[in-house]
Amino acid sequence: MAVTPLRERKAWQALQQQHGQLAGRHLRELFAEDPQRGERLVAEAAGLYLDYSKNLVTDETMRLLVELATESGLAEHRDAMFAGQHINVSEDRAVLHVALRMPAGTSLMVDGEDVVAQVHEVLGRMREFAGRVRSGDWKGQTGKRIRNVINVGIGGSDLGPVMAYEALRYYSDRDMTFRFVSNVDSTDFVEATRDLAADETLFIISSKTFGTLETLTNATSARAWVAGQLGEEAVAKHFVAVSTNAERVAEFGIDTANMFGFWDWVGGRYSMDSAIGLSTMVAIGPDNFDEMLAGFHEMDEHFRTAPLAANLPVLMGMLCVWYGCFFDAQTVGVMPYDQYLKRFPAYLQQLTMESNGKHVTLSGGQVDYQTGAVFWGEPGTNGQHSFYQLIHQGTKLIPVDLIGFGKTLNPLRDHHDILSSNVFAQAQALAFGKTEAEVRAEGTPENVVPHRVMQGNRPTNVLLAEVLTPRLLGTLVALYEHSVFTQGVIWDIDSFDQWGVELGKVLAKQIVPELESKQEPALAHDSSTNALIRRYRSLKN
Ligand code: F6P
Repeated sequence: MAVTPLRERKAWQALQQQHGQLAGRHLRELFAEDPQRGERLVAEAAGLYLDYSKNLVTDETMRLLVELATESGLAEHRDAMFAGQHINVSEDRAVLHVALRMPAGTSLMVDGEDVVAQVHEVLGRMREFAGRVRSGDWKGQTGKRIRNVINVGIGGSDLGPVMAYEALRYYSDRDMTFRFVSNVDSTDFVEATRDLAADETLFIISSKTFGTLETLTNATSARAWVAGQLGEEAVAKHFVAVSTNAERVAEFGIDTANMFGFWDWVGGRYSMDSAIGLSTMVAIGPDNFDEMLAGFHEMDEHFRTAPLAANLPVLMGMLCVWYGCFFDAQTVGVMPYDQYLKRFPAYLQQLTMESNGKHVTLSGGQVDYQTGAVFWGEPGTNGQHSFYQLIHQGTKLIPVDLIGFGKTLNPLRDHHDILSSNVFAQAQALAFGKTEAEVRAEGTPENVVPHRVMQGNRPTNVLLAEVLTPRLLGTLVALYEHSVFTQGVIWDIDSFDQWGVELGKVLAKQIVPELESKQEPALAHDSSTNALIRRYRSLKN
């Protein structure tokens, strides 16, 4: 799809003018001139209500952003993704995480295969396996039922599973223990296993490629831990694998009958609803997992069919482009006001930053505009007592997504109203701040007045839903997935490769033998790396 360079698109140029016009405006004025704005600049779908009225935009800005998305070919790119075209150009692959949640009985033919049928075949096997583990029918080597499940994986093979487990813990089997080992730092493995009995523990080795050094190192230690206590023959009952690479799974020593597959058209960071979600399914049960898939699908359908101007992920994606490209905002904060979502920002970091941290266009040219923002966040209200100060009164513009719920899963006195009042209060304070006159009217000593002025005009999106369910989690993740997609299309980048992480992996592999060698190695790196390696060797010996 040939596309006009971003800066030459008509809507881009109009948006530059818009930005100039909005530069001196304040959200206080925008609300005063247009009192209904808070009821109009909202959108709703799949159980999520988005209030984007406290953004530095007018109706005209939103119209132009839609025009930019249209001019960028968003609808065509989206349809190409849903049709299984190879939109991941640098890897020549289809991008079909949306097929992972298509209902049984539908079909999508890609390269001559019905991928939906393949998805449901694996889901069926996962259901059967998860059911056996949960019921105690799957026995360990000594005949005891499995009580502990440890997912071993990293990146997309860890962040999705651990985020989903934490998010849906309320729905999980409380008689079982779930842990997640990702870091090659031995502390991660040792701490995860120190109080567990091997004969009640099942390892799920999750790796799309089954070639990731960290995961294979941890998997090898896991096998030694099990074999050391129960003998080599116990591996068959205590290990299953999730991968696209059956050969490597077999080489590692896991029977491929105990392997759950997925496909190269599922990117690692888009895989939590594939077999990579096996630990999630064991934790919350197959029916809840189905509900999560239904939530994903509902948002997919909204993204696929809703007009761009009322399309939640499109609105959020366009606003990211607006702040990044026109206001030079470098980061986006995501603050879930629900303790169960404490790993959601970490999950989003991979989703957004591995996807859109790119500096070349699809055709290989250098971009001359900002692309992916730094995503970060913490659950509210904790963040308020730590870094919100900088968002309120610092010198950086930080657009923030605040995520709240009408109900808590754990009602306790008035906690939930107190929590939720902070969602609204933060959005209000960030937007409207406190003027000099207001501060003075409070009798503030003159020398303190400037310190207490809150400029406001800080943008937020507020997302509200009824309650955190498996379905809602699917919806929320799909919302951000498609927002990332929207940004990537406008920026004309490949949101689905991640070549940038490769060089570090290759270099680390070269350095390992230099750290391990008994003899002083001949080092041929730059002087800094050589000196650091020598210093490390002297510290370790
Ligand atoms: O290093 C980045 C990465 O390739 C991610 O994209 C991926 O999610 C992660 O490593 C783990 O890869 P795998 O599932 O193949 O072990």
